[in-house]
Amino acid sequence: MSAKLIKGTEIGEQILEEITGEVAEIKKKHGVVPGLVTILVGENPASMSYVTLKIKTAHRVGFKEVQDSQPADISEKDLLALIEKYNHDDSIHGILVQLPLPKHIDEKKVLNAIDPDKDVDGFHPVNVGRLMIGGNEVKFPPCTPAGIQELIVRSGVETRGAEVVVVGRSNIVGKPIANMMLQKGKGADATVTIVHTQTRNMAEHCKRADVLIVAAGVPGLVKPEWIKPGACVIDVGVNRVGEKPSKNDPNKMVALLKGDVDFEAASEIAGFITPVPGGVGPMTITMLMRNTLRSLKFKLG
Ligand code: GUN
Repeated sequence: MSAKLIKGTEIGEQILEEITGEVAEIKKKHGVVPGLVTILVGENPASMSYVTLKIKTAHRVGFKEVQDSQPADISEKDLLALIEKYNHDDSIHGILVQLPLPKHIDEKKVLNAIDPDKDVDGFHPVNVGRLMIGGNEVKFPPCTPAGIQELIVRSGVETRGAEVVVVGRSNIVGKPIANMMLQKGKGADATVTIVHTQTRNMAEHCKRADVLIVAAGVPGLVKPEWIKPGACVIDVGVNRVGEKPSKNDPNKMVALLKGDVDFEAASEIAGFITPVPGGVGPMTITMLMRNTLRSLKFKLG
């Protein structure tokens, strides 16, 4: 392997330490801590494990954390009323509704009901607009794209004037990261291309990339010959391709995860590469903590 491994677990830990220090300082000075509520509807096992990790991390960095679990058959009206309650709760600075929601609930309506100044996911149209404008307008950059940018900056990868190619056009990753890379400033200033399922000759675009960000959700989509020698490859894909025995308890089976990039072969060509797991994944929760802290800091002025 010749590529430098971008270790999201280590970088994420470092940022969590920074956040913990800041929280303690604010508590001493102002007597308040950031408050985060996660709203989970139903019992989707993946959602339950994500929410548990979010709450555990919030606790660890010194936040007030609230896990609000609701039954799968909660009405849309009751869910909207619950969000309204937290919108007016002064001890809560971040509201996260775990997605996906059950089919009878209009996801858009729910996300739009969150106070944009507590929308730590950055999914509200007001925050999407703020991100598009850029600069000081940005309040809550969405967590996964923010994590990607942080990994790039902290690894010392130059993006100014670089060719950045984003594979995937989702509202959660592809569109916002492309937009962030386009803005002025550190970890940005790039020339950006987005490729997607309808793109002709995806490989040719990828071959030009100095920074290749892959968020397609297709295991092994990006082949080693698509990678420019020395490029920085960020693999956002988290695909469950099977099961394997747990490292801690060989009698227990855990998910076998694979990224969107053929990691082994790609790491012989790339200059920098993120592993799956342990790359972008841990950064998403870290950035959620950072956004919640930002929310309190905006309030304190
Ligand atoms: N479900 C999967 N990822 C996310 C996320 O980043 N935020 C929320 N709210 N739900 C999710």
